[in-house]
Amino acid sequence: MPNAMLILQEDSAGPAIAAREPEPRRGVVLIPWSEFGTPRPWYFPLLPSTYLQVQPAKVQDSDDESEEDPPCAYEERSKREEPVVVVRGLRKTFGEFRAVDGVSFEMVEGEVFCLLGHNGAGKTTTINVLSGLLPPDPASHKAAVVYGKDVADPEAIHALRQKLGVCPQHDVLFPHLTVREHVAFFGQLKGRDSSSAERDADALLEVFRLSDRSHHLGSELSGGQKRKLSVSIALSGSSKFIVLDEPTAGMDPVARRELWTLLRAVRLKRALLLTTHHMDEAEALGDRVAIMASGKVRADGSVPFLKRAFGKGYAISFEARDAQQARSLMAAAAPSAAVEDIADASVAGFHTKDRKSVV
Ligand SMILES: Nc1ncnc2c1ncn2[C@@H]1O[C@H](COP(=O)(O)OP(=O)(O)OP(=O)(O)O)[C@@H](O)[C@H]1O
Ligand SMILES: [Mg+2]
Repeated sequence: MPNAMLILQEDSAGPAIAAREPEPRRGVVLIPWSEFGTPRPWYFPLLPSTYLQVQPAKVQDSDDESEEDPPCAYEERSKREEPVVVVRGLRKTFGEFRAVDGVSFEMVEGEVFCLLGHNGAGKTTTINVLSGLLPPDPASHKAAVVYGKDVADPEAIHALRQKLGVCPQHDVLFPHLTVREHVAFFGQLKGRDSSSAERDADALLEVFRLSDRSHHLGSELSGGQKRKLSVSIALSGSSKFIVLDEPTAGMDPVARRELWTLLRAVRLKRALLLTTHHMDEAEALGDRVAIMASGKVRADGSVPFLKRAFGKGYAISFEARDAQQARSLMAAAAPSAAVEDIADASVAGFHTKDRKSVV
């Protein structure tokens, strides 16, 4: 093959998802009161549950199948796996706009579950509802049950918070707390005593390579370091349900990979839900991936399943003398390959699912 240059790579499932950062909001932003969390009844100061640890009754799965909106590609789970997070037909509407439109998925313990989707797909809204920051639509009653707690029930959310670790999309740090104090403080909020919360904080900061910054204020960290601190806070205490909204945004490639390894290691006996725009991240981390678009889950399954369902196969590009030679070389090597493009410089691109013929 004259002048041959062959690049062979396995495609990711589905179309590439652009990684555009959301525009920061400027000016006056009106925040509806419901953004401050799931509202409790006006007479909440009179309720015993405001002062006592009242365990709400366990919620059974919703029987209302009509709320379900099945994805176009769904991989069945093995029956042995008992889900700890059950989302069925979850909806969230802002005014007239339905940001989450009948989302359904399940998570089991020991699993990293990725919500993958474009800007505005509804990922953050979904996880804000699951973590009790936003109430679901009233009709979504029992549409999301996390560790036996209905997220539409303010009392249940109260109990769930002990098990919850959240890393929001935008870092929320206290200006006057140091890095170590942040992690230890949240560990104590989740029920650790002060000395074990401090020990945990030191261990987490070590893992995240933030030990040398532990006595700095949160505001003195770089963007990637703030992200690492937010993930450390989510993992502090004995959180069972960890929710990470774009945890690696702003991290350098080495830090990203280190975080992937860490999250894979800590997932045992926990359920990790994370959002991302990046297929490579979902592939590296996700035991299961749900692809979201326009408020709906369009596909839900393991990465190999999604690749089989949506993958275009192998992308092959090489340089040949001219277009005719490119075609004949490809026809000989992989007859089933489809031409993607043949540029003037005769760099040809083909796609094939036939691995044997190209390796
Ligand atoms: N408080 C709100 N009021 C009105 N619309 C909202 C509100 N919050 C989110 N939305 C809209 O809901 C849709 C989903 O937003 P969401 O933040 O969930 O998307 P996302 O998938 O997390 O996007 P990104 O990848 O950019 O973070 C968007 O169209 C957004 O404009
Ligand atoms: Mg988001």
